[in-house]
Amino acid sequence: MLDAHAPLLRDALVDAGYTYDRVADLLGPQATAALQRNETVPGRRRTSGGSALETLVRLFVLQTPVPLAEAERALPGLVEPLAVTGMLEASVGEVAARLDCRPYATDTDSLWVVSDLTPGLDGRPHRVSADHVLGISAASSSLAQLTLRHDVGRALDLGTGCGVQALHLAAHADRVVATDVNARALDLARFNAALNGVASAVEVRDGSYFEPVRGERFDLVVTNPPFVISPGTGERLVYRDSGLPGDRVVEDIVRTAPRHLAPGGWCQVLANWVISTDRPWDERLAGWLDDDCDAFVVQREVLDPAAYVELWLRDAGIDGTPAYVERYDTWLSWFEQEGVEGIGFGWINLHDRSGSTRTGGPTHELLSWPYEVEQPVAPAIGAWGTALDAVVEPHTQLVTRVDVRQETVGPVGAEDPETILLRQQTGLRRARSVDTVTAAVVGACDGDLAVGAILDAVAELLGLDPAQTRDTHLPVLRELVVEGYLTPRPTPRTPPPSRPGRTRVPG
Ligand SMILES: C[S@@+](CC[C@H](N)C(=O)[O-])C[C@H]1O[C@@H](n2cnc3c(N)ncnc32)[C@H](O)[C@@H]1O
Repeated sequence: MLDAHAPLLRDALVDAGYTYDRVADLLGPQATAALQRNETVPGRRRTSGGSALETLVRLFVLQTPVPLAEAERALPGLVEPLAVTGMLEASVGEVAARLDCRPYATDTDSLWVVSDLTPGLDGRPHRVSADHVLGISAASSSLAQLTLRHDVGRALDLGTGCGVQALHLAAHADRVVATDVNARALDLARFNAALNGVASAVEVRDGSYFEPVRGERFDLVVTNPPFVISPGTGERLVYRDSGLPGDRVVEDIVRTAPRHLAPGGWCQVLANWVISTDRPWDERLAGWLDDDCDAFVVQREVLDPAAYVELWLRDAGIDGTPAYVERYDTWLSWFEQEGVEGIGFGWINLHDRSGSTRTGGPTHELLSWPYEVEQPVAPAIGAWGTALDAVVEPHTQLVTRVDVRQETVGPVGAEDPETILLRQQTGLRRARSVDTVTAAVVGACDGDLAVGAILDAVAELLGLDPAQTRDTHLPVLRELVVEGYLTPRPTPRTPPPSRPGRTRVPG
């Protein structure tokens, strides 16, 4: 029913200049920062002029009731119909929002996202219903920045919620399928697609995980699933609790996704996983990975069990309630019983390798990288996938990436450094310690000489055996290509042979 009002609402939002940048300018940095702490007073003080933009910011962003006349001016002809659908609540002389409607900006588009209201503003009791539909969260933004943005045919957004990932996907996919089990999320995802003019590209389907897409394949699958790891004793909040034990939801997605990838397709998952007392995290996750896919798993953060429980009890608004201590204790003792030592958070990227020219098995890299990365990080993930097919042989010409810096550490006055580190300034900002030979080779890789010749020259300079130096260092150089420190120089394309009678010879 809400969908019918999408075009009029869109017009009103456009007319009011209700865009991400205009709202950020109106609120200014202090009120914006306060809002991130769930405080609206600084924002209210900057939005008292009664313009349509101020009215919309008060109504939706600051959850502040506005006079009916102002609401009518900002949303002409819409107050009553939106109240009937439950988006607004009109009382005598005043209008309040019952759903959030927020401007959102991607690199290319100005969008709006309708979701449930942010709970707990201004210290109000924090209540979330079991079918709460999240707005744009830090996790949504993380996944959006991780998502590869090349043009694709079919894309899948698994657990779409308000549909924010589907909106992003609609900008570079011909067709987007968005699934969820929460009926309210499905309605809002549909509405948001209509509001943003992409309803014809986004198909919203009801059903659990891959069930609504049985037998279908996609070029790109993205998901920010309900990954919270809990004993499942409290009320199930569908936006974060899968109802499956431990991290099974993530394991199931990782095990099932390869069957839904088209040749060369990618699946990108934002996830939590258990770090158990009896096994290293990477060994455990490696057991989930399929031979048909290359996989790049990046552990970005590890939380200790107590900090994790506190985070999610706060998220559900349980802190400060009589149930808090008991829920905290139950959750912690369940972690102990399950042998959970910590909880990892990170990214799982799967890349179908059926189109790959490479021989041998898949590459599964599991990296713990808690350091700052350049955002959006997606290009670095894509480059990793491309570099896997690179062949590094003695005749290969390699180029050192321009942002790679060398750092040396050693005792003051020493002739040779103890450690040589290569550090990237962009992308994943990886760093890696290398030996003298590798550092010298990387320093000489300008794309002119073949690596075999560079290795021979370095071996001679250091008094090493050239054949052995090639044997030990060519595999290291390939690793440096995959990790992005070096890139193979593109081979110049041979011009096609000229056809007789068609060639024009100068002079
Ligand atoms: C963390 S929210 C992510 C929402 C949105 N995709 C984003 O990135 O912000 C997880 C979503 O998964 C949905 N979900 C929960 N259980 C599901 C299931 N069994 N199958 C599909 N979706 C499910 C929830 O309703 C919720 O919308």
